[in-house]
Amino acid sequence: MSGAAGLSVDVHLSATDLHRALEEDVRVGLTSRPKSIPPVWFYDEEGSRLFEVITTLDEYYPTRAERRLLELHSPAIAALAGADTLVELGAGACAKTRTLLDAMGEDGPLRRYLPFDVSDDFLRSAAAEVLEDYEGLEVHAVIGDFHRHLDRIPVVGIRLVAFLGGTIGNLTPDQRQRFFFDLNCSMLAGDHLLIGTDLVKDTRRIIAAYDDGAGVTAEFNRNMLRVLNEQLDADFVPELFEHLAVWNDAEQWIEMRLRSTAEQSIHINALDLEVHFEAGEEMLTEISAKFTPEQVADELIKADFVVDGQWGADEGDFLLTLAHPYC
Ligand code: SAH
Ligand code: TRP
Repeated sequence: MSGAAGLSVDVHLSATDLHRALEEDVRVGLTSRPKSIPPVWFYDEEGSRLFEVITTLDEYYPTRAERRLLELHSPAIAALAGADTLVELGAGACAKTRTLLDAMGEDGPLRRYLPFDVSDDFLRSAAAEVLEDYEGLEVHAVIGDFHRHLDRIPVVGIRLVAFLGGTIGNLTPDQRQRFFFDLNCSMLAGDHLLIGTDLVKDTRRIIAAYDDGAGVTAEFNRNMLRVLNEQLDADFVPELFEHLAVWNDAEQWIEMRLRSTAEQSIHINALDLEVHFEAGEEMLTEISAKFTPEQVADELIKADFVVDGQWGADEGDFLLTLAHPYC
């Protein structure tokens, strides 16, 4: 445990671990067909900053919709969960969570906040701001990968585990099932899970949310190539890749892709790998699945959760679901 002035930090991902994982993901992803790179590599310092800009765009409705639901329903959720500890997975800027913290603190037992994220420096500074703004709150940041380190979430107090932002939709169905199962195993009687999911809707609105007019999402998508250039001594020219947001109707998810605008070869020096792109060849960088309320409840029940409530289904844009492990 380490950290500056009152902020404690657990690091489960050293720079070396991260580097090894990136090497492995890039070697596998860029030698597969179609090529792909997992979305966790969007979030270096610049990627986390760009994502925060996305959340303020007119077209990107999920953040606004989820914030509104939290403003309306946090008191009810806090009362049902009765938790003194808020764990937040993929916390990012720890922004929306403040509504939840306020509700848990109002006549409630709130004692500590445990934000968990892969983006080390970004999380440290966001967590330090929460620490400064909430007197008496214990803030304990956890740097880890939610695919691998759910069993490292500190076991302390009565916990509400929040997974917001629709980030669960960025996992493939297999990853999602495993994630819910692992999370259930890491939770104790009395703990609750709050999950934010984007809902199926007019596909034009979904596509616009992932392909904004100002081109911020395109920059965010291409930023992954810069991460590879910096971390793996690669020679991508980001401008030679075009951002695409494609709705996959069969899977009910949006796909973020990067399309090579020319035939080109990329050298990834740290891997001693040369990767060839055809002109027009597309590489998958992220999926973002959209759900129905029934589907969310179903997946949770299959992973041995009991659903306590769902909020937002009537408004139709976004959904919060509260559940607890059946045990
Ligand atoms: N919760 C915030 C941020 C969502 S963006 C919001 O709702 O606005 C997704 C967040 O998940 C980013 O902060 C990113 O760094 C983090 N993340 C992505 N993949 C992760 C992984 N495998 N393990 C831990 N955190 C991850
Ligand atoms: N969790 C966010 C979502 O699925 C992540 C995200 C938003 C994103 N916009 C993006 C990922 C653009 C890649 C590209 O909505």
